Amino acid sequence: KLEAVIFDLDGVITDTAEYHYLAWKELAEELGLPFDRVKNERLKGVSRMESLEIVLEDSERSYTAEEKAGLAERKNESYKRMIERITPADLLPGIRDLLVSLQEQGIAVGLASASHNAPFILERLGASSWFQAVADPGSVRKGKPDPEIFLQAAEMLGADPANCIGVEDAEAGVAAIQAAGMKAVGIGSAAQLGAADLLLASTAELSPDMLLNLMG
Ligand code: BG6
Ligand code: MG
Repeated sequence: KLEAVIFDLDGVITDTAEYHYLAWKELAEELGLPFDRVKNERLKGVSRMESLEIVLEDSERSYTAEEKAGLAERKNESYKRMIERITPADLLPGIRDLLVSLQEQGIAVGLASASHNAPFILERLGASSWFQAVADPGSVRKGKPDPEIFLQAAEMLGADPANCIGVEDAEAGVAAIQAAGMKAVGIGSAAQLGAADLLLASTAELSPDMLLNLMG
């Protein structure tokens, strides 16, 4: 029985994955470091500081912890300027209808995002009230692909992980969902998300019936 659907945010609810990419690219260019979409795939689902480590891995110089904190802050300031303009029109295709149907059917909805900006983004999208639980990335010891953040969301919802479905656009996210003992829906391409229990090219293809069938 499907008890809950737990969503990733960036790249699933709204296209902030693109803003993360643009903000990291801007920082990498300022530092004279190579950065492209292939490398960006490795940043999806990964925390801000871990992402920075990946951005800096081609650097010839090393950075102190203090400098790294400053660089992460700089990226976040630029990212925050981008997300200030988000409106409800920025919900990805099909997401609004899906959240409404899940609510009507009494299926719990949770968020498992690594982003500290998630509550602000949900507010901008007018989506906060659809989520009964938003996991706190600040309290999670191990990020995706560890299952911890998905398990925290399930626990907040009082749902058995075996009766939950997770929805993700990142390889690390699909791995986290499956390690939590949940069924994983991947949004994207097989190259990254081949392990997903159900792979969709776009959120427009999501439907409550499809999720109910997946649970069996
Ligand atoms: C994840 C994104 O949702 O959140 C990552 O996929 C991002 O790209 C991470 O680095 C942390 O986000 P923030 O907003 O706290 O820097
Ligand atoms: Mg994502």
